[in-house]
Amino acid sequence: MLVEVMVDYDAVSERAAELVAQQIRKKPDSVIGFATGSTPLGLYKRLVAMHRDAGLDFSKMTTFNLDEYIGLLPRHDQSYNRFMWEHLFEHINVSPERVFIPNGMADDIDGFCAWYEEQIERVGGIDLQILGIGANGHLAFNEPGSSLGSRTRIKTLTAETVVVNARFFSNLNEVPRFAITMGIGTIMEARRLLLLASGESKAMAIQTTLEGPVTAMAPSTIVQMHRHAHVIIDERAASRLKNKHHHGISEPKPE
Ligand code: GLP
Repeated sequence: MLVEVMVDYDAVSERAAELVAQQIRKKPDSVIGFATGSTPLGLYKRLVAMHRDAGLDFSKMTTFNLDEYIGLLPRHDQSYNRFMWEHLFEHINVSPERVFIPNGMADDIDGFCAWYEEQIERVGGIDLQILGIGANGHLAFNEPGSSLGSRTRIKTLTAETVVVNARFFSNLNEVPRFAITMGIGTIMEARRLLLLASGESKAMAIQTTLEGPVTAMAPSTIVQMHRHAHVIIDERAASRLKNKHHHGISEPKPE
């Protein structure tokens, strides 16, 4: 694991944008896994600016989103589909036929989930998966207790996640209780992981993720088992880490 502690949220976003842009430049037909939530917003803003001002070309990229609420139409203002188009896809030259986002309105959810996994396989797997983290250690919507070998499937959200997400809805009853989410096993097959976190509210989850034992009760701890996990966090999110091993780790290594 490469852990980089940046001074603040802007620096986290800047560093993440640099890495995603590097990946796209090196391999224009990269398969990128995208995440929702407030954390990657700064990254998406920068990718939009890199496209607009420096011509960063996304036309050959394929994308897979991590998750989507069950029961929200793609155009619902809180659907993850709408989130991705509004904050990123509408503003870059991505090819719509190469954008994959779970369909929370699918009639046959199990069939859809199997198809989604097949699509990831068909394009040769995900090159770089962007991840946020829930305060309870969830990755995508893999809540505590999720199998560490799980695949794309329907999950019930915990009461805690429903309450945290209620800030985006007009009342608690409107928050969906279920979601389709890539599994932990699906996420772990991505060739590189880029986990972002910022702020005090993520400090406990980050301490558990990086220093706790690997456990399904905090699914994010599985990143310890990934060969190429890159964790970029700000000082607040890092404030509860006991081990300061990450200090100086981002210094350039000898050639
Ligand atoms: C949701 C998403 C996760 C995201 C998490 C944290 O639960 N399903 O993918 O990581 O929110 O969101 P935020 O970045 O807003 O804290």
